[in-house]
Amino acid sequence: MKIEIFAPAKVNLTLHVTGLREDGYHLLDSLVVFVDVGDQLRLTQSDQMSLDVMGPYADGVPTDASNLVWRAAALCGLAAGIVLDKHLPNAAGIGGGSADAAAIIRGAKQLGYHPQKPITSLGADVPVCLSSEPQRMAGIGDRLKPVGGLPDLWAVLVNPGVGVPTPAVFSALKSKSNTPMADALPLWKTANEFCSWLGDQRNDLEAPAIGIQPIIADVLHTLFDASLARMSGSGATCFGLYPSRQASAVAAARIKANNPGWWISEARVLKG
Ligand code: C5P
Repeated sequence: MKIEIFAPAKVNLTLHVTGLREDGYHLLDSLVVFVDVGDQLRLTQSDQMSLDVMGPYADGVPTDASNLVWRAAALCGLAAGIVLDKHLPNAAGIGGGSADAAAIIRGAKQLGYHPQKPITSLGADVPVCLSSEPQRMAGIGDRLKPVGGLPDLWAVLVNPGVGVPTPAVFSALKSKSNTPMADALPLWKTANEFCSWLGDQRNDLEAPAIGIQPIIADVLHTLFDASLARMSGSGATCFGLYPSRQASAVAAARIKANNPGWWISEARVLKG
């Protein structure tokens, strides 16, 4: 049996770092959404594990047991032939490997295989990527609550082609204990209202990531016409939110023309 699975990119619309655990992991409060661009996976049950990686971002992706998709299948006790069509840049703050691992777990479940260990052992972002609905993510990424009522939104994702190692960004963060979002999220009536509320929230990793890769500040400047521009995760990908598909298309075309080497993708924010 062959299963096709889409692994949508994850976008942290907010990312508040609220504490540090004794094991070195940080506590987060993050509003996470998914978009309609991502990697594509094909899973075929087999006697032996195998992994083929293709697509525009296949370069440098391991094809052995060190790859998260391989580890995800093994965690479910599933042997499979996996084809991974990589469209998302790596180490980019938009899920990537975690989204791929979560997609394999979804596929394994369809075949009757279930995780036999906590899936956070694959990475703190894997649990949130199991569902493509908007979620509020807390703990180290393991406490999840669906968030409803988001307005229709379009995004432009921009990555300048530099990888930012997540541990380095967390270590460069000066204050580990910052305020969370309000306990109760407001009811947003319009995209404007939503983006204006987002503007009062933060990604606490943005400043330390810019310290490591100053080009991230340039990326944010290119999104000047967005209703809200921010970095996702630990970077370097930044997103701009726009109230219409047309507005996001105009912005994406402009940024592409000025920055031919960058990864720029228009996307619709998924509502679940
Ligand atoms: O869990 P994952 O492998 O994705 O995390 C990569 C690194 O990011 C961890 O080793 C840790 O340094 C940092 N991290 C953290 N707190 C989190 C998630 C990740 O400190 N909640």
